[in-house]
Amino acid sequence: MASPISAFSAFPAIRHDSLTLVALPNAVWLARAYTAATLRGWGFSDEQFVDDARLLVSELVTNAVQALGMHVVMPKVSTLLADESLIRLVLEVVPGVDALLIEVWDADPRAPARPGRPGIDSEHGRGLAIVDGLAASWGYRYPKDAALPWIKVVYATIRSPPTGGANRRCP
Ligand SMILES: Nc1ncnc2c1ncn2[C@@H]1O[C@H](COP(=O)(O)OP(=O)(O)OP(=O)(O)O)[C@@H](O)[C@H]1O
Ligand SMILES: [Mg+2]
Repeated sequence: MASPISAFSAFPAIRHDSLTLVALPNAVWLARAYTAATLRGWGFSDEQFVDDARLLVSELVTNAVQALGMHVVMPKVSTLLADESLIRLVLEVVPGVDALLIEVWDADPRAPARPGRPGIDSEHGRGLAIVDGLAASWGYRYPKDAALPWIKVVYATIRSPPTGGANRRCP
């Protein structure tokens, strides 16, 4: 599957993992827990970095769940089992870049809105503003070689601190 950051393609990922989730509200909790466990497993002990990565994941996965609409009504089992109900979270650290790449793939053709300035009483519209403030870069793409059912990827990068295990290649 294509990486949204072309500069990364010259380097093999030394840390790459992914999790596929059904787009239900508990996907957000699972994605957060998976992110923390994965980053700690990769040797990242900087709690601020893990917290920031978890927050980015949380906002992007929440948006994907909401875009697929299964948080609103109790879905039928056939909907739950449909490929289009799946979200894919990818975490990747690439040598020489010192960045964590977070990708959230979904099957909704709509693009994320540009982050605005939500009013003080507004209950929505803050997620991407948080992403915009926290991430080194973020955006979305419709990769031509996306594996079905996913058609869109929303991604964010964040600078990663050094880790004792970062120079070791994945088995
Ligand atoms: N993955 C996505 N697919 C389709 N639309 C998206 C996606 N992510 C975001 N959007 C759109 O962009 C809008 C802004 O997202 P943002 O996260 O900033 O606010 P929100 O989700 O509406 O509210 P909040 O995150 O504050 O609870 C969303 O309301 C939605 O319309
Ligand atoms: Mg949101």
